[in-house]
Amino acid sequence: EKADQKRETNESQKDVLGVAKDAEKENKVNYSGAQVWKVSTEESRVRTVIGRLRRRNLIATWSGNHSYVDVFVKPHAVENVTRAFKRENIEYDIIIDDLQKRIDEENPPLDQNEIELQDRRGHRMTWKQYHRLEDIHGFLDYLAKTYSAIISVRSIGKSFEGRDLKVLRISNGKPSNKAVFIDGGIHAREWISPATVTYFINQFAENFDEEEDDIRNIDWYFLPVVNPDGYEYTHTADRLWRKNRKPAVGRQCAGTDLNRNFGYRWGGKGASANPCSDIFRGNRMFSEPESKALGDFIKNTAANFTAYLTYHSYGQYILYPWGYDNVVPPDHKTLDEVGKSMADAIKQIGGSKYTVGSSSGVLYPAAGGSDDWAKGQGIKYSFTIELGDTGRYGFILPTSHIEPVAKESLAGLRVLAHYVNKY
Ligand code: ARG
Ligand code: ZN
Repeated sequence: EKADQKRETNESQKDVLGVAKDAEKENKVNYSGAQVWKVSTEESRVRTVIGRLRRRNLIATWSGNHSYVDVFVKPHAVENVTRAFKRENIEYDIIIDDLQKRIDEENPPLDQNEIELQDRRGHRMTWKQYHRLEDIHGFLDYLAKTYSAIISVRSIGKSFEGRDLKVLRISNGKPSNKAVFIDGGIHAREWISPATVTYFINQFAENFDEEEDDIRNIDWYFLPVVNPDGYEYTHTADRLWRKNRKPAVGRQCAGTDLNRNFGYRWGGKGASANPCSDIFRGNRMFSEPESKALGDFIKNTAANFTAYLTYHSYGQYILYPWGYDNVVPPDHKTLDEVGKSMADAIKQIGGSKYTVGSSSGVLYPAAGGSDDWAKGQGIKYSFTIELGDTGRYGFILPTSHIEPVAKESLAGLRVLAHYVNKY
């Protein structure tokens, strides 16, 4: 009888878990049948057609530059868009033919051995998986507790939904140190970004005494998840969410693109006034608690910030100002030289090719970015780094890519640290 009971409990438990899992899936936006196409945009007629389809909300454009664009085709629109492309004789490569399948395979759970290892270590962070915010914050707190002589963590404010914006500082306390600010996760769906920034933190924290002087003599400030509400939302509801989660005033749409909300030439090109747009700039500069907290922190902290790096994905670019329009700052030659040395180091370590240039020149003009604002504050080395890949997986980068991408990025960061010390 007992055995029977036990079997019954087990089975009903399995049922409950199964149902819970299905329910979780059902509550999420489903991207079955959605596709990603790579399209050459050298011909202006192609750009016209893409613009038209985008306004009809059938497609979105993801990574791209002057010569190509990745087109995300919504599931219900695949037939329609295919017909339009055929009719206009536009060629395209289907790089992802079922996005949901990629999403389902992206972040498999760890096996039992890994989990036991995590628990023995005192935090749950790994670079073999994409982690929830709780694991990331737990990791930062663990480091502050374990290495309290050089590491501290503070919350610089709260997200719209009340989550902490945690900044971790690593410093040997030398008064002559320059400071570097690094953030990730401004855009919710770019999961490789917080993963990479936490990888940097782990390297510096765990090996600080053995690190080269260029690393040890900088005051490091890391904010791995600028947009925690959006980040959690990509885990629980919509894998492709980009913005924060603050509802627009009196509208049905939620979210401001935090990288259009910073107060430098705010409201210019490449930013939308429509709250339903993925590049909504917000109602005014710094209208969002997340961008406001970041801006206030950089302005009000006594640290001598010499570099600001913000990690995004994807496309493999190292971008310097300006972003708001196709112009460059007076020291653009230096920025270009630093960017190219970083790209060289990345190539040497991991083999990936990063394209270097001004963000408006290489990509497109987009006003209200954090990089422009930082540069406007007088922070010399301001870069946006678009991590891998170049479009095979795009935002849905499998976990096996985390370590290689992060490792080569660290090589780039070491070069930057060298310039910071020299400057
Ligand atoms: N992909 C990034 C974005 O669209 C690039 C930002 C580059 N910087 C800029 N200020 N436009 O947000
Ligand atoms: Zn981004």
